[in-house]
Amino acid sequence: MYTYLITGGAGFIGSNFIHYILNKHKDIFVINLDKLTYAGNLDNLKSIEGYKNYKFIKGDICDEKLLEEIFSSYDVDYVVNFAAESHVDRSIKDSTIFVKTNVLGTQTLLNVAKEYWQEPDGGYNKKKKFLQVSTDEVYGSLGKEGYFRETTPLDPRNPYSASKASADLIVKSYCDTYGFPASITRCSNNYGPYQFPEKLIPLVINNCLSGKKIPVYGDGLNIRDWLYVEDHCKAIDIVLRKGKMGDVYNIGGNNEVKNIDMVKILIKIVKELLNENDERKDLISEELIKFVEDRKGHDRRYAIDANKIKKKLGWVPETTFEEGIRNTVKWYLNNGEWLKNVTSGEYLKYYEEMYKERLD
Ligand code: NAD
Ligand code: TYD
Repeated sequence: MYTYLITGGAGFIGSNFIHYILNKHKDIFVINLDKLTYAGNLDNLKSIEGYKNYKFIKGDICDEKLLEEIFSSYDVDYVVNFAAESHVDRSIKDSTIFVKTNVLGTQTLLNVAKEYWQEPDGGYNKKKKFLQVSTDEVYGSLGKEGYFRETTPLDPRNPYSASKASADLIVKSYCDTYGFPASITRCSNNYGPYQFPEKLIPLVINNCLSGKKIPVYGDGLNIRDWLYVEDHCKAIDIVLRKGKMGDVYNIGGNNEVKNIDMVKILIKIVKELLNENDERKDLISEELIKFVEDRKGHDRRYAIDANKIKKKLGWVPETTFEEGIRNTVKWYLNNGEWLKNVTSGEYLKYYEEMYKERLD
């Protein structure tokens, strides 16, 4: 029996991970600690509500007292720290909450785990593991050539990636100083079901469906290395079970796409998959694309060398881009109610603030 403490499990990747592990393993108990910020959504976990091996706790990873209550009530074996402020554009507007959650929250979580896990001789039970879910953005930006390796120096270039890099360094310091059993994964851009439509792919799908302009930053030639979220979940589970403590593992899709190409692919698939008699079909075209003012400090290219995790742990991405992107569009088309709920109220305000000047 393994008890997982998943933080940020009501967000995009965290909720996919919870579905994945509950399907995959029978002998587990899952605690999901989530603050339910704008990005956290319990609808993502509706199908497992009431499961006897799943418990949701609403709370903040910065809340030391709450964390102590959790660790003293449950014999936590694995911590997987997804909880974070995750959107670069928001971090450019105000980085305060990014530093609080991503840096101080991670440090608080590490402290409490250390306090409860460390044995009187200073060692740790082999069962205990902490996985910090990080990002390739900590390595900065690539030119036309080259790949991010685990040995690439950290060079974050926006407040989000700087906060994630800071968290990575705190995690590393706990491994080096206290022999704390943690590893770090650095993943490229994810796509798939349950992603909040502030990020490029669901934003484009949503704008197509509601006939809104599609904002493409700068010249649209920035490149991201896209990975289907379920493949990321598989990688995290493998690192947790078989990874070497203290190590970093890059996770990538080997799938570089220019933003403008991604937008055109999405327009084509949404149009194709909509029902014949859906009146939105005729309004969806590349004419919706609007090149807008670039993101400040916009990283040009991300590309991951994922050979370490392939060679050491046998992980490779299994979902082809063609399959993954069609599944994703289908999921949004089949989950109109989910999309409607997350794009009302607060989202409209966010969209107005973030895009009004750019799109006017
Ligand atoms: P998300 O924004 O969809 O979800 C974040 C979740 O964390 C939300 O449920 C939110 O309510 C919760 N949360 C925020 N602050 C919290 C706090 N203080 N205490 C407890 N819960 C809190 O993010 P995501 O895209 O699912 O990303 C998950 C993790 O993966 C993040 O750490 C992110 O940096 C990392 N990551 C994301 C990507 C990507 O493409 N989305 C790629 C690489 C790494
Ligand atoms: P995003 O999904 O925000 O992920 P990240 O910044 O973490 O890579 O953005 C992906 C790419 O798409 C990035 O180069 C910025 C670009 N982008 C747009 O061109 N328009 C948009 O409206 C958004 C949200 C992103």
